[in-house]
Amino acid sequence: MKIHKTRFFGYAALFSIATMTLSNSVRADESMPTTLKEAFAGKFMIGATVNGWMLRDSEHPSLAIVTEQFDCITTANALKWGSFNPKPNEYRFQTPDRFVSFAKDNDITNIGHVLFWHSQTPNWVYEDAEGNTLTREALLARMRQRARLLAKLYGDDIKIWDVVNEAIEEDGSLRKTKFNEIIGDDFIEQAFKIAAEELPADAVLLYNDYGMTKEGRRNTVVAMINDFKSRGIRIDGIGVQGHWSMHRPTLESIDETMTAFAETGASIHVTEFDVDYLGRDAYFGANVDAQMLKANSKNNPYPDGNYPPKADKELADRYEELFGVLLKHSNSIDRVTFWGVTDRDSWLNNFPVRGRTNYPLLIDRKGNYKPALERVVKLASEYGK
Ligand code: GLA
Repeated sequence: MKIHKTRFFGYAALFSIATMTLSNSVRADESMPTTLKEAFAGKFMIGATVNGWMLRDSEHPSLAIVTEQFDCITTANALKWGSFNPKPNEYRFQTPDRFVSFAKDNDITNIGHVLFWHSQTPNWVYEDAEGNTLTREALLARMRQRARLLAKLYGDDIKIWDVVNEAIEEDGSLRKTKFNEIIGDDFIEQAFKIAAEELPADAVLLYNDYGMTKEGRRNTVVAMINDFKSRGIRIDGIGVQGHWSMHRPTLESIDETMTAFAETGASIHVTEFDVDYLGRDAYFGANVDAQMLKANSKNNPYPDGNYPPKADKELADRYEELFGVLLKHSNSIDRVTFWGVTDRDSWLNNFPVRGRTNYPLLIDRKGNYKPALERVVKLASEYGK
């Protein structure tokens, strides 16, 4: 039996991840899948994001969970412009290199996140050596250079790319960013043209955004896909981030959104799935520019991570209903990826409330599989039988 020390998780006890099995109810039928990737096989890929700190340690417990449960991984930060190329001519290859070799060694598909995003892109990108704002042509050339380098380094290994992230507002208008301030309103189109020309011909090119169930944004995305297709501009799929909470969005709006996206013929990827168990006061989505709140006893009720059994049940119920809708659209959905492996890695511990102890994923902060994971495995295994 393989035992993983919990030093990373900060607990004294030892626990086993690789040999952890699901409860008897799920295992009653011995032929029944016990892991997410087995349960979803033939429906869609199931994945998680992997961080640099996990990849630095080959014995990291989260990696054992990844190889057991998931068949694809996304780079959480390492390929973002600011992480990969923080200064002119300064590149950080180490984490992306580890990422592709970990995937290769374990027969896992890897996903590139993200070519062009207004956030986590350093200011130098938009400026020349004297600090003057670049011209449209110069910025497009810089974008092309980035895509060309990534294709040269990782083109054989990364075949699915978030090309543009979060460029459309909730009301459907174009987000005002440095990219479209300099390039103009055809920034998204230019980005996809560059990606199509520089990345391998078999790469899957996605437009990725949050709050996709909002009508304004959803309609603009549908119109954009149809427009690009009619003009021969390659765009292969839609990344629905899926940063959802316990009550929003409604199942109906997710169902409608998936139907609308499927009608475009684009492949659908749920790219950053999690359920914000503690909730958000003001809005939902993943607007990383939103103002942060401070943790207090109201918005951080379980600071020591001891969630009551009621939380397990509520989260399992919510995941079951959400996956019910996703499975219904499994002909159009090619992948569902969680943002993080365990609750410990989740960005929702710091957003929109800094420093709270959240409970959003299928695996808890000690590395234990939650009842929600069992429920999802059971649902997917039985689906369509
Ligand atoms: C957005 C981005 C991701 C990540 C998450 C939260 O959704 O696309 O890269 O930053 O926010 O961490």
